[in-house]
Amino acid sequence: MLGRLRELGRDATAALKSAASVVELESIRVKYLGRKSELNQVSRGLKDLDPEERRSVGRAVNELKNELGALLEQSKERLESAGEPSSGLDLTLPGRMPWVGKKHPVTRTYERLESIFGGLGFDVALGPHVEDDFHNFDALNIPPEHPARDGWDTFYIDDDSLLRTHTSPVQIRVMESRTPPIRIIAPGRAYRNETPDASHGSEFFQLEGLYVDRGVRFGELKGVLIRFMRELFGTDVGLRFRAGFFPFTEPSTEVDVECQVCHGSGCSVCSGTGWVELLGAGMVDPRVFEAVGYDPEEFTGYAFGLGVDRICMMMTGTDDIRLFLENDLRFLRQI
Ligand code: PHE
Repeated sequence: MLGRLRELGRDATAALKSAASVVELESIRVKYLGRKSELNQVSRGLKDLDPEERRSVGRAVNELKNELGALLEQSKERLESAGEPSSGLDLTLPGRMPWVGKKHPVTRTYERLESIFGGLGFDVALGPHVEDDFHNFDALNIPPEHPARDGWDTFYIDDDSLLRTHTSPVQIRVMESRTPPIRIIAPGRAYRNETPDASHGSEFFQLEGLYVDRGVRFGELKGVLIRFMRELFGTDVGLRFRAGFFPFTEPSTEVDVECQVCHGSGCSVCSGTGWVELLGAGMVDPRVFEAVGYDPEEFTGYAFGLGVDRICMMMTGTDDIRLFLENDLRFLRQI
C-alpha cells in the first residue's frame, strides 16, 4: 500500500510540474486528488484496515495530499503569472453572432415606391406632421363648416394646428415655394381619429404625388398609375378605377387592386369584396391652383395619394395593418 502511494506521488508530481495550462492542471487535480481518485479511495478504505496499518497509511495519505495540494498551488501560480487565464477558456464554444438589424417592411415599401416613381422623374418632397388648417384643409378646397371635412376625423392640437390627416398639404407647400413644372412625391405619416381595425389605423402611411405643368391630361395620370401598379404587383394584376370625390381634384378616381392576401376570394383585409382601395387621385382642382397663386388657365396637373401600409400588406400578405406599428419582432422577422 505504501509503495503504491509513493508511485502515485511520483506520477502526480511529474504531471503537475509539466502541466502546460490551467485547464490541464484542473484535469490533473481531478485525476489525482478528485473524489474518484485512487488516493481518495485509499483514504475512504482506511477504516477497514487494522489499527496499525491504518495509522501508517493514514499518515502517508495525508502527507501526500498536502504535498500535492501545495504543488498544485505552485503550478497554478506559475501558469497564471505566465498569462494563462484562471477560468477554463473553451475555444470550442460557438461564437456569439452579431445582432443584424433589418429595415421595417413599411420602410422597404417606401423605398420601392420611391425607386419606381424616381424612375418616372418624380423628386421627393417633405412636409410637417403638425399642420395648420390652411394647408390641411382650406387651400385644398375644404373650407370650414364644409361637409367634406367630416371625411377626415381630425386630431386637433389647438384651434389652428392639427396632425395632418393626409399628405396632401405637402402639395400646397411645394406649390407655394416653386413654379411649374413640378413633379414630386411626398412620403410620410398621416393621422386620423379612427377606430382601428384590420385595415384602418389612427396613424398610417401615405405617399402623395403631384405633377403640374402646361397641358397635363387625365390620360397621363391613368398611364402613370397603371404603369406603377404593374411594376409593383406584376403585369397581370387586376385593377379597378372607380369614380370618386375629393374636394381638391376634379374629376377624381379611386383605384382598387385585386386583394393580394386572398386573391379575390374575400378576406378580412378586403372586407370580403376581393378588392382593396389603394389610392385616391384626380386632376388638380382649379380652386387649389388659385389658393397657391397659380393661374388655372395656364396650368393643369394631377395628384394622387397612396395608402402605403395597404400596399405593404398586399406585398407581404399581412392581414392586419396594426401589426406594422406594434414593433413585435416575432412578426417583423417573418417578413
Ligand atoms: N388625400 C386623399 C386622402 O387621404 C387622397 C388623395 C390625394 C386624393 C391626392 C386625390 C389626390 O384620402
